[in-house]
Amino acid sequence: MTGPVDYEIHGAVALIALNNPPVNALGIAVREGIAAAIDKAEADDNVKCIVLAGRNRCFCGGADITEFGKPRKEPSLSVLINRLEASEKPVVVAIHGTAVGGGCEISLGCHYRVGDKTARFGLPEINLGLLPGAGGTQRLPRLIGIAPALDIILGGEYVDAEKALELGFLDAIVPGDLIAGAIDFANGLIRDGKGPRRTAEMEIEKEGAQATLDEYKKKIAKRSRGLIAPARCIEAVEAAMSISVAEGMKLERKNFDELVQSDQSKAQRHLFFAERQAHKLPGVDKDTELRKIEQVAVIGCGTMGRGIAMSFASAGFAVTVLEQSHDALDNGLAAAKKTYEGSVKRGRITQEEADACMARFTGTVDYADLKDADIVIEAVFEDMTIKKQVFGQLDAVCKPGAILATNTSSLDVDEIANATSRPADVVGTHFFSPANIMKLMENVRGKATSPEVQATVMKLSKDIGKVGVMVGVCDGFVGNRMLYRYRSQAEFLLEEGALPEQIDKVIYDFGFPMGPFAMGDLAGLDVGYMVRKHRRENFPTNDRYSSTIADRIVEMGRHGQKNGMGWYKYAEGGRTPEPDPEIAKLVESVSAEMGITRRDVTDREIMERCMYTLINEGAKILEEGIATRPSDIDLVWVHGYGYPIGKGGPMFFADLTGVDKIHETMKRLHDAHGDLLRPAALLEELAMSGKSFADYQSKK
Ligand code: 3HC
Ligand code: NAI
Repeated sequence: MTGPVDYEIHGAVALIALNNPPVNALGIAVREGIAAAIDKAEADDNVKCIVLAGRNRCFCGGADITEFGKPRKEPSLSVLINRLEASEKPVVVAIHGTAVGGGCEISLGCHYRVGDKTARFGLPEINLGLLPGAGGTQRLPRLIGIAPALDIILGGEYVDAEKALELGFLDAIVPGDLIAGAIDFANGLIRDGKGPRRTAEMEIEKEGAQATLDEYKKKIAKRSRGLIAPARCIEAVEAAMSISVAEGMKLERKNFDELVQSDQSKAQRHLFFAERQAHKLPGVDKDTELRKIEQVAVIGCGTMGRGIAMSFASAGFAVTVLEQSHDALDNGLAAAKKTYEGSVKRGRITQEEADACMARFTGTVDYADLKDADIVIEAVFEDMTIKKQVFGQLDAVCKPGAILATNTSSLDVDEIANATSRPADVVGTHFFSPANIMKLMENVRGKATSPEVQATVMKLSKDIGKVGVMVGVCDGFVGNRMLYRYRSQAEFLLEEGALPEQIDKVIYDFGFPMGPFAMGDLAGLDVGYMVRKHRRENFPTNDRYSSTIADRIVEMGRHGQKNGMGWYKYAEGGRTPEPDPEIAKLVESVSAEMGITRRDVTDREIMERCMYTLINEGAKILEEGIATRPSDIDLVWVHGYGYPIGKGGPMFFADLTGVDKIHETMKRLHDAHGDLLRPAALLEELAMSGKSFADYQSKK
């Protein structure tokens, strides 16, 4: 058979193999191919058993996401899976690599499941703002039970072969060649006279199920605030307890069709493609040879250094950590150990995994120990003189070809690069705090950074489970530059009439985990104070970047949560922000000093001033070529700053709202408040020509 599905006969076994590179997505041609192959196998009296497998890098990456939102062509995936399950001849699926989404659902419709040791399965639809739409919510709980099924459906993460076997998803892990092993398994079924074993006919274990469902409902209310898909997933799983698979699939389909049209799902699908798009770097050929990275070194084992080192150790890399003294080193390593122990206590990893991660650490105070490192990431104090000294020392000891990276959040990567004799090997790798958790790696290319270094660092981001985005050098790079502008607006709104709690509530309701003032308190206000001081000295402009209120608060000794008072006050040892009349007094007195008559600021104005400013600055960043494409900016904000995924990032939100509307509002705000709110030329250009940021991106 030609096309995206191969058909072969191996004795009494028909092999149906998906062959639709790269990930065997189940587009219409594949579905038709499978349906035709089943018909053929069923019609062939010599065939007693069917094996379904996949060629290429994995069994199946699921439904073809590019078909979503377009008219559905038959056979739909659900129809196909029902057809497969109804087969009178037993069907064995052979899984290598990933079987996710529709790829997992098709496996659930097969009667037996085997995999090799690379096999992993999952239902990541939730990450696309969807629910599994081809029987996943009905069959998975029947096969493995309600709680594990909900973990998989709501978590969207993938389960490895060992765990899949333990859960009863896989019947066997086959050593050696998978297809040969699956054919042996099929011959065993024929020999033993075993027929189809249909998941749809299995009974769900009902004992304790309702309590489990209620517990998950509570969990998602907190964890997935504002998102629709999680509740729809639970609703469908709950239905599976009382109705047939056929009925349940109708409900599932209804939910899927509703979600697929929602802005939230569009936003999350946009982010899926954005992550992949980000790896296409201008001026870097896709076949660029990558540098081999095995030995990693991190300089500085403070807040960021140890989080960065942990990200590598957790991903299996050997990490050497260099500190300026034995004491600092011991403290840093002890803090890393404590963090791993916390993860063990919370059940996130096992003690053995924690021990294995710590065993990958080596500590040193001697630069000579970095001579074999393939990449060194510097995370020392944010001070150009110190950074230059560190890079000078690295230049002297590191082997040729080693990548020299800086985690600076605000200093000029080109200046740091010029402290070495090899600026082409120098790059920024800006992690976000806590670096072992936050997904963003804002990688910064300097003027001289070589294409191989850029490509290697982007690949490395993926290898350690981060989302990499490559940006250019400017004050604050992409993320912090936009943050400065948005935070300035929040502070100016205080001067004009708002209070921190009002602004924070608007931003929280927009979908951020917290507003800018609560966030400042969490991060520590003294840090921002130092950054502002540095910026005033290094980037003197006529712009009034921030209100004096922020500085005064620090000068009053209020450093945020760390000393129990900042923009808010905190009960002894507490983390819940409480509005503080002292702050209201300070804010009001600043307004009076500035001769501003305080007014009622509406929630709408807060949202527009803060969120539209982000978009406007994003547009300037695009004009300047600091970010390659709008979707790169979206990734930075979603993965580095908690921008709500259901809105897809600031630039996608601009398209959802309408670029013309944003431009109109910016013009009005500019007229009322002056130059900081001047609409970006690109925003104006798009608005005037009726275009969106997506149109702009498609032309890039
Ligand atoms: N549909 C369309 N394209 C897909 C796809 C899919 N389901 N999955 C991956 N791709 C594309 C990617 O966009 C990328 O394209 P590009 O090279 O042009 O950028 C290419 O395949 C390779 O993808 P990755 O770079 O992610 O390759 P990896 O080897 O790193 O990972 C994977 C492979 C593990 C399969 C990963 O792509 C993945 O996790 N995909 C998840 C897909 C997903 O969410 N599936 C659920 C779909 S929804 C569904 O099935 C609905 C059903 O319930 C009805
Ligand atoms: P930190 O003060 O917690 O840690 C810095 C560490 O570097 C200290 O342990 C110190 O002993 C060590 N150090 C200083 N000079 C050294 C030298 N010459 N050799 C070896 N070690 C040395 O600082 P933090 O917060 O970890 O910041 C580090 C870098 O990361 C800075 O460039 C900062 O701007 C950047 N960054 C910080 C973020 C944050 O949220 N804290 C976020 C993103 C980037």
